[in-house]
Amino acid sequence: MPDRVLIFYGSYRSDRQGIRLAEWLVRAFAERGASAELIDARAVDLPMLDRMYKEHPSGEAPPALEALAEKIRTADAFVFVAGEYNWGVQPGLKNLTDHFLEEWYWRPAAIVSYSAGRFAGARAGLAWHGILSEMGMVVVSSTIAVGGIGHAFDASGEPAGDNGAALTRAFPRFADDLGWWAQAARAQRERRDPPY
Ligand SMILES: Cc1cc2nc3c(=O)[nH]c(=O)nc-3n(C[C@H](O)[C@H](O)[C@H](O)COP(=O)(O)O)c2cc1C
Repeated sequence: MPDRVLIFYGSYRSDRQGIRLAEWLVRAFAERGASAELIDARAVDLPMLDRMYKEHPSGEAPPALEALAEKIRTADAFVFVAGEYNWGVQPGLKNLTDHFLEEWYWRPAAIVSYSAGRFAGARAGLAWHGILSEMGMVVVSSTIAVGGIGHAFDASGEPAGDNGAALTRAFPRFADDLGWWAQAARAQRERRDPPY
């Protein structure tokens, strides 16, 4: 069975740059045989958090929330494409993730940070590490950090320049790490129900 990998991206900006990284990751995971899907927070367009998914009576959550809950529950692994705003996380993606809790549990997550600058979103990546751990995901140690995001892809969406080349080099080991944990967690969930 192919690993089902959800790639989360959360910029709402009109001129957003990270979408090319998110879309490239979907293609790169698919080329490795995974079933990869982009979850673009702007397209899902959840409202600012009022009621979490679990706070809706069963079967009465808004359709977008219900559909996303089902995708999260049935995924094997998550990738968070983390842009950096003022040394922190992007609010659109944080808002989307906060709608869920138990749906995330018992699966691995990996972080791909990016930014316009040389630090490649490392500070946002650090923040996401704690957030994802708190939400019950096992955060794998492999990370990818793409600096100079505005120049890291060419017009056709392929990695370009030094930063694009570094992404292409780093991806196989990153995906191997996440894939190993995805399969380990799936095997364990099949062998034994999660404790809570
Ligand atoms: C509100 C805001 C805050 C930003 N803060 C940082 C920052 O702290 N560090 C950084 O390297 N880049 C920062 N940037 C530049 C972003 O890395 C760059 O605009 C990037 O393209 C944002 O991702 P997006 O285009 O997918 O929205 C900031 C950009 C915005 C709009």
